[in-house]
Amino acid sequence: MMKQTTGYSATQIGLHWIVALLVAGQYIFKDSISLAWDDYMQGQEVVFAPLILAHVAGGLLILGLILWRLFLRLTRGVPPAPANEPAPLKALSQIAHWGFYGVLAAMSVTGALMWFADVTSAATLHNLLKVVLLAMIALHVLAVIFHRIVLKNNLMQRMIRPAS
Ligand code: HEM
Ligand code: HEM
Repeated sequence: MMKQTTGYSATQIGLHWIVALLVAGQYIFKDSISLAWDDYMQGQEVVFAPLILAHVAGGLLILGLILWRLFLRLTRGVPPAPANEPAPLKALSQIAHWGFYGVLAAMSVTGALMWFADVTSAATLHNLLKVVLLAMIALHVLAVIFHRIVLKNNLMQRMIRPAS
């Protein structure tokens, strides 16, 4: 069902870390957009701030980049889980990796729906998914640490050094 390779390509690695940085930025610099949204909901005028635009542009950029990643995942493929990863964790990491694509896309789409199409109910979902995404990232980092300390394999290297 999935294409498999011996490792991630330089493009896949670059995209992974750029998206990780952009996602961090969405959380760290969220205050301007949150304020703007509150003002808008209260019928007040929204005062322009660069970080409002950055959140909208950053979110749409993330959507574009994860679609690119998805394309690479489907055409080029990804490496199989490390050999010493227990089967239940293999299954879990599959779900988590696909889940990232779904949740990131849903974040961007719900954000766009509230901002450009006035769908206020999308805000509830955007605010729910931001917690889900944060939990997934925490679990993802814990998994990397688990691989390093308990399984002692080269997982981290796979996301640093491109496969030749
Ligand atoms: C993967 C992409 C995205 C992530 C990770 C993300 C994350 C966040 C976070 C963490 C907040 C703060 C919520 C709070 O106040 O606690 C937020 C709020 C908001 N985002 Fe996004 N966002 C993304 C994409 C977008 C896009 C593309 C748009 C618009 C086109 C958008 C529009 C908004 C708006 C209007 C708010 C304020 C809503 C509120 O405070 O209830 N977001 N987002
Ligand atoms: C917003 C933050 C992040 C997101 C959305 C994310 C998402 C993903 C996804 C979807 C994959 C699967 C490979 C792919 O489809 O390209 C992956 C793999 C990986 N990520 Fe992240 N990641 C994030 C942050 C991090 C951080 C902070 C670390 C390091 C501590 C990390 C380390 C890794 C490693 C080592 C792999 C390779 C796993 C393997 O070889 O199977 N990621 N990540």
